Parts: sequence; structure tokens; C-alpha cells
Amino acid sequence: MSLLVIENIRFQIEDKVLYQDASIVLHHGEHVGVTGANGVGKSTLLKMLQGELLPDSGEIVWQPNTQVGYLDQHLTIDPTLSIYDFMALAYRDLVEAERALNAIYASMSVDTSDAVLAKAARLQSQLEAQDFYRISHRIEQVAAGLGIAPLGMQTAMGQLSGGQRHKVMLAKLLLEQAEVMLLDEPTNFLDAEHVTWLAEFLNQYTGTFMVVSHDEAFLESITTAIFDIDQSKIRKYKGSYQQALEQKAQQSETQHKQYLAQQKKMDKLATYIRKNGAGVNARIAKGRKKQLAKMVPIEKTRRVSR
Ligand SMILES: Nc1ncnc2c1ncn2[C@@H]1O[C@H](COP(=O)(O)OP(=O)(O)O)[C@@H](O)[C@H]1O
Ligand SMILES: [Mg+2]
Repeated sequence: MSLLVIENIRFQIEDKVLYQDASIVLHHGEHVGVTGANGVGKSTLLKMLQGELLPDSGEIVWQPNTQVGYLDQHLTIDPTLSIYDFMALAYRDLVEAERALNAIYASMSVDTSDAVLAKAARLQSQLEAQDFYRISHRIEQVAAGLGIAPLGMQTAMGQLSGGQRHKVMLAKLLLEQAEVMLLDEPTNFLDAEHVTWLAEFLNQYTGTFMVVSHDEAFLESITTAIFDIDQSKIRKYKGSYQQALEQKAQQSETQHKQYLAQQKKMDKLATYIRKNGAGVNARIAKGRKKQLAKMVPIEKTRRVSR
């Protein structure tokens, strides 16, 4: 099932056309690596999918109600919040449900109506269904995995360096388990062992994600498809990063062969015209003439008429 359809987008920054007639489809459950040379528009693409930027033309359509998780670089974080409490914001709804449940329990000595009991039962089953009682365990697991625990879980967010803050924001994003995660260079600021942990986490992720990364081994270990941006187009290759590279090489070899074959045909034609001189046009059928005219580039035409 397609989660996202990008159709014929065009986008230009200053005089640089990043995408032109670019189309791509993302399916539910795909683990996508976004690749391409520096400055080709990988981060810009994620920004568009986050709704931060709009294409100049074309369409970006998410399936309705898709939850998209990403690192919001502009997010204002309460600097007095502890790392633990910030990560627990991933479970904000559940924490609120627990608070409401506790309030009901506290009021039960005065109000034991059926409506109140029914509400308490509903909240209780919501908490159990979403594994509320394992939240602290999950927060600790992710904090250990990304190397956050040694910073001290009670350390205030305001005391962290940029890199440490990035790691904690990534941890919260992973805990949120959004339907789709958009990750731009998530391995920045991570040591090798934490990159390995992140790769394992992503491999087990049942949702969909798109990851921009320059780390080839990391991409190879987590992706089921690649979106490669090249010459203002976005091409999709199924399979791992290595398989995508092979497909891309094969495609460009095929294109190169087609180009050479076309060149050969054009040279043959040029030779023929040179040998036969004037009048040749009359001998070429009308339809064929039009077709050939399209194939002959300007420089060859000039050479012929010299
Ligand atoms: N705010 C901006 N103003 C001008 N140029 C920009 C801006 N943001 C990005 N660019 C240019 O757009 C291109 C694509 O940027 P980006 O998406 O960050 O590339 P990538 O992530 O693939 O390295 C780059 O050439 C960059 O210089
Ligand atoms: Mg980038």
C-alpha cells in the first residue's frame, strides 16, 4: 500500500534546480535509504516531506492521517527538563491517562458511580494495552543503546552540548514509534557501538522509515530500498544499498550502450549523406526523414552541410 506519493515535483533554490519532474512512491513498511552526492537535495526532500518546504510545482500526498516523526531542529525545549522527563514526552498521552486514572482513584471514596468506574476501567486497559508499565524500561534501553545513560538521566536538557541534545532528541523520536520516521544523518554524534545498536533497532522497526546517511555500512545493514537523487530525478531501487548501486551501474551502462548505438547510427547516416550528396532527402521516406531529423544533433548537421 502506498503511504506517500510524490508526483512530478519541481523545486529550485536560487539558480539550482534540485528536482525536475521527480516522482516516487513510498510503501508501507519500506526501510528506505536516501542517497546522492553532497548538495543534491537529500535534506531538502525530507524537509518537504515534513511540510517545512513546498515544491514549486507537483504534488506530495501522504495517505490521510499518517503519523510522521522527525527531528524538529527548531523545537524549543524547556532547559530545566531532565533527560528522562524529556524522553518520557514520547509517551505524553499515556502519562496523561495515568494522571487521570490516579485522580479517579483518589476521588473514589466520594464518587463510585458506574460512569466513573467505567472511565477508570477504560483508562486502565489503555495503559495496559500500550505497555505503560514498561515505559521506564524502554526509556532506559534506548538511553543505554545510544550512549545517553552516562550523561545522567536527571541531567537538565539545558546543560547538554549540541551533539548530546541531538542524541536525546533522536532517542525520543525512536520511542515515539511513529508510523513513518524521517531521519537525516542520525549517526552524527554516535560512536560506532551506538551506530550498531541503532542499526539493530531500525532493523526491528515494524514501521516505515527514510534515512539520509553517508555511512555505507550503516545503510547496507538497514535498507530494503534506496531513493537515489541524481540529475534532479529521484530513482527508486529495491533491495539493499549494494544491490541499488549495482542496479544503478547497470542502468547507466545500458544507457551508455544505447547512446553509443545511437551515435553509430548517426555517423552511418552522416557518411551516407556525404557520399550521396544532394537529393538524398528525396529518397528518404517522409516519416523516416522526420525521425532521422530528430536524431541528428546540430553539430553533426553543420558538419554535413560544410
Ligand atoms: N536556505 C538555502 N539557501 C540557499 N541554498 C540552499 C539553502 N538550503 C539548501 N540550499 C542548497 O540546496 C542544495 C541542496 O541542499 P541539501 O538538501 O541540504 O543537500 P544534501 O542534504 O543532499 O547535501 C545545496 O546545494 C544547498 O547549497
Ligand atoms: Mg543533508
